[in-house]
Amino acid sequence: MIFYFTGTGNSRHVAERIGSLIGDGNIKNIADYYNDVVDGKGIVIDVDSAEPLGFVCPVHSWGLAKSMRRFVKKAKINYGGKKIFAILVCGDNCGKAREQLQEALWKHSRLRCDFVCSVQMPNTYIVMKGFGTDPDELVAQKLAAAEKQLPEIADAIINGKPYDHYVVGTKPFLKGRIVYPLFMAFTLSDKKFYADDNCISCGQCVNNCPEQNIRLNAQKRPEWLGHCVKCLSCIHRCPKRAIQYGDITQKMGRYYYK
Ligand SMILES: Cc1cc2nc3c(=O)[nH]c(=O)nc-3n(C[C@H](O)[C@H](O)[C@H](O)COP(=O)(O)O)c2cc1C
Repeated sequence: MIFYFTGTGNSRHVAERIGSLIGDGNIKNIADYYNDVVDGKGIVIDVDSAEPLGFVCPVHSWGLAKSMRRFVKKAKINYGGKKIFAILVCGDNCGKAREQLQEALWKHSRLRCDFVCSVQMPNTYIVMKGFGTDPDELVAQKLAAAEKQLPEIADAIINGKPYDHYVVGTKPFLKGRIVYPLFMAFTLSDKKFYADDNCISCGQCVNNCPEQNIRLNAQKRPEWLGHCVKCLSCIHRCPKRAIQYGDITQKMGRYYYK
């Protein structure tokens, strides 16, 4: 069983590709457990010991994406098998995301990963000046490199081999212990999202939001409900490029895994 979270499709692709390479069709989107984990009651999930157990999610602010962090804290996963792996999907590097995932899995489900590795995929962080999507050439390079890397990861899972490719980046302590908590505390607000005049009220943003954080208002325009995790699914996947974030994203690129 492979649990994944995704904003813009990169992690879903990685989960599905790994699943097909290792012969595991049991791929679970943790957004489907949203109502179970968000109300505080939690959930117990039994995983067949005969199959591998995996976790795939994006890196956010050099740490674990909030939805996956909440999932591993609220879902008690019963697994007596031997193969546990995690893949952190980043644009560049991962800082302390690996340690955060390992700590949470151990603390809440007594699960220890055989390995936690990283895979670079196209960048999606566009809601702060100085950041943005990758140029087309780099997108193609990253996707091609990932397609080569994923069979290596699958081989390690199948044959129980170590796999230690993990890109930490610079100053992991500072980023993981200071920048990440500040990011989680102060930058997840969705107050700056709005739909401009290109909005056709199709409701795709509502359907695509993994946190059930968007609804259409009386004028059939999206409104954000205040519990965003900044996965940026809404802004990248809007078919009319109508969703904006303050005055930052009008000229920024958009990306999602197609
Ligand atoms: C809020 C946010 C924060 C991010 N922070 C990082 C980061 O710290 N390091 C990094 O390499 N990529 C970062 N990224 C890029 C994503 O990790 C990367 O694009 C990933 O492939 C997205 O996966 P997804 O399509 O499954 O959502 C960030 C993206 C978002 C939306």
